[in-house]
Amino acid sequence: MKQSNSNIVLGLDLGTTGNRAILFNQEGQLISQSYQELTQFYPQPGWVEHDPVAIWEDTYHCIQQVLQNRGISGSEIAAIGLTVQRETCLLWDKTTGDPLHPAIVWLDRRTAPLCRELAEKGHAAEIQNRTGLVLDAYFSATKLAWLLQWVKDNRADINPQNILAGTIDTWILWKLTGSKVHATDRSNASRTLLMNLETLNWDPTLLTLFGIPPEIMPEIRDSFGYFGETDPDILGFSVPIMAILGDQQAALFAHGCDRPGLVKCTYGTGCFLIAQTGQELVRSHHQLLSTVAWTDGNQVNYALEGAMFTTGRAVQWLRDGLNLINSAGETEAIARSVPDSNGAYFVPALSGLGAPHWDMSARGAFFGLTAGVTRAHLVRAVLEAVAYQVKEVVDAINQDSDTPVQRLKVDGGACENDFLMQFQADVLNIPLERPTILDATAQGAAFAAGLAVGFWTDYRTLVQTRTLDRCFEPGAGKVTATPHFAQWQKAVSRAKNWVD
Ligand code: G3P
Repeated sequence: MKQSNSNIVLGLDLGTTGNRAILFNQEGQLISQSYQELTQFYPQPGWVEHDPVAIWEDTYHCIQQVLQNRGISGSEIAAIGLTVQRETCLLWDKTTGDPLHPAIVWLDRRTAPLCRELAEKGHAAEIQNRTGLVLDAYFSATKLAWLLQWVKDNRADINPQNILAGTIDTWILWKLTGSKVHATDRSNASRTLLMNLETLNWDPTLLTLFGIPPEIMPEIRDSFGYFGETDPDILGFSVPIMAILGDQQAALFAHGCDRPGLVKCTYGTGCFLIAQTGQELVRSHHQLLSTVAWTDGNQVNYALEGAMFTTGRAVQWLRDGLNLINSAGETEAIARSVPDSNGAYFVPALSGLGAPHWDMSARGAFFGLTAGVTRAHLVRAVLEAVAYQVKEVVDAINQDSDTPVQRLKVDGGACENDFLMQFQADVLNIPLERPTILDATAQGAAFAAGLAVGFWTDYRTLVQTRTLDRCFEPGAGKVTATPHFAQWQKAVSRAKNWVD
């Protein structure tokens, strides 16, 4: 399908905090990358928006930049793998290509009242049964319903027949292909609250329930396979897009977690712990999500997931909201400068609580403050809270499974923080494996695309090219971890049911 001078694969990772393009060579090694931080908009308390045009422009810029960095031409790319922040969605006009409203980000809570209304009408169990998800503002369905209502109320100039809907993968695929392909993959579709987890197609009952016209929805395709070509008039070259995945599923793929029992945790804007369950659709009894890991045309891989909303975002808030730090990197030294958090506990509910609580009305809080608590204690409490919430989810996974999690494969930007990793190993009392390349999301998308186009031939060999940077073994801190974790859970219970 592709020219013989192709010697690289491009992974695009369009995340919540920023957009990234990475080139991988035939040996599976990262050879160049480009990154742009994305502006977050908070128009009202609990609301979070992104500018879809900025996401596209940054994607375009990152692609050009990553090629320029190495003096490579686009024609040398064998395939593109696209992975994105999930659930974030938008509407656009297919005749103009203009978004009709900013994208509503997965962290946005504006549709919590609609979720509560649907729950009160008794729809929660049926929705969970059809989608594997819980009825929560996190997912796309209520956001799309809100957007459609907004367009109806505010954009009389828009012909409803021209509206297209999509998550970020769909939007960028449409842009990359010059408005030709309106599609998504099953891993992203499985996060919308609109895809039936057994039929793997849009569920007509749910589309009706949420008031979403089927014709505005993208076609759902397998995660691995041909999605279309980049438009040469736009990018300057034509390359096949051969894989699309939700970012957390892409990281699972990069880690080699293709069999039941393998678990990874990505520390990004949020924290996402996913356990592969193979071809079996496992239903959680402990508030975890059942979701699609990926599909390849022959089979479906399912997973269980614990989604925690606030991780890197809490550190970003320390930097941009509170001005307590200048950079995320500082937090390690600051946390180490004190022996403990001096009784301070942070509840990371800046967008409510995800797994295992699913409380849209919880809000962030510091508890246990005394006059002896300093900036360093607060920073440390924020990092400790990240580790405690991961422990809650690991406990839930262990309760859902016969085999306890024995090691945790980690990735994501926050994993650079050695203090956090050691504290996490202590709290979980299991070893943590940190890879050399922390961008497992882009890596997973690139691996999937390269395998789909025949650039690489063997998944296991490819996964083995990944090297381990460090293994964190549980240390002395595990002794105090249990009482502190219990105290933190007490703080969490007090931050619940905060807003109406
Ligand atoms: O479900 C949301 C998730 O996909 C966002 O990932 O890496 O942007 O925190 P990230």
